[in-house]
Amino acid sequence: MLQSKIAGIGYYVPEKIVTNNDLTRVMDTSNEWIIERTGIEERRYIERHKETTSTMGTEAAKIAIERAGITPQDIDFIIFATLSPDYYFPGSGVLLQRQLGIPGIGALDIRNQCSGFVYGLSIADQFVKTGMYKNVLLVGSEAHSMGLDFTTRGRNVSVIFGDGAGAVVIQPTEEKGKGILSTHLHADGEHAEQLAYINPGSHCGIHGDREKFGYPDQEFGGMFLTQKMWDDEDLYPNMNGQFVFKFAVKKFPEVIMEALQTNGYTPADINLLVPHQANLRIAQFVQKVLKLKDDQVYNNIQKYGNTTAASIPIALCEAWEKGLVKDGDLVCLAAFGSGFTWASALIKW
Ligand code: UT7
Repeated sequence: MLQSKIAGIGYYVPEKIVTNNDLTRVMDTSNEWIIERTGIEERRYIERHKETTSTMGTEAAKIAIERAGITPQDIDFIIFATLSPDYYFPGSGVLLQRQLGIPGIGALDIRNQCSGFVYGLSIADQFVKTGMYKNVLLVGSEAHSMGLDFTTRGRNVSVIFGDGAGAVVIQPTEEKGKGILSTHLHADGEHAEQLAYINPGSHCGIHGDREKFGYPDQEFGGMFLTQKMWDDEDLYPNMNGQFVFKFAVKKFPEVIMEALQTNGYTPADINLLVPHQANLRIAQFVQKVLKLKDDQVYNNIQKYGNTTAASIPIALCEAWEKGLVKDGDLVCLAAFGSGFTWASALIKW
């Protein structure tokens, strides 16, 4: 069977920098609180009316495609991972396809939140390994700034997230032992609502929340988006932060060890771990548990916040541009997030 590899990588972040102090103008928070609890110093927000999730993805994709030494016309499949799409439907994959001018090929949108990039990598890997596609474009992109609650009520969520996009081109390789060695995907829907953006949606009172959301007594329609949701501003993501944190620090080491053990490696063999940038404290905890040295882990949440499906490709690309990912290096990607979903990938670069 063929192996697949990352043949090109790129990222795009909007120009607009929003510091912690900028956020103190609209909500009760502080630079000290945000840095102490998350490590985040600043994040990027898209330019309103000009940029979207798909346009950022397109910018990142152009760089990845060029670095892979191909043209957009060579791409034979698109995978787009996001939780903040341009439209409720269709997905952002077809919009990116239109922007790249490559109609006709398949475009798959996936919804695996913070694990979206690693889930997408696994899908791309399977398509390439079987010989079905030769140039799969995988994009993770998020425009969080358009859908957060910027009042004090939403501060535990809104200070964390930032906008940006990352992209890779996955191709087959004939170099033995090189490329994507394995991917590992997990999910547990038991805690789906602990980190979720539930409205608008078709849940319509099934969880006993009929009154809370004001579902009307009518035979048809009116259940997706109610006036009460609008009036109560129940249209934002919410997170039980401590609960999510506890799962994250357990699942990250587990799924990293799964990838290492599958391939006969130990943490000491990792050249670079690129964890999903959820919270610097989580990454530091994982580093400690696995006894990794500082130069074995790459973090950039300080500059970009948590960009969900985009965080791993942005961090991986930045590390690669700095020369921290070299030929033959063992690179581990790991993610945890809403769903819950968690996943890892081990790559011999
Ligand atoms: O990427 C997807 C996966 N997501 C994660 O992995 C995130 C995991 N969770 C976390 O990173 C942390 O739980 C947070 C950073 C979200 C929150 O930190 P925390 O230490 O768990 O804080 P908390 O939610 O327990 O809140 C502690 C206090 C509360 O005040 P009281 O009740 O003690 O008076 C909050 O109201 O901090 C308050 N608080 C804030 N204060 C200032 C919450 N958010 C803020 C804020 N600024 N932005």
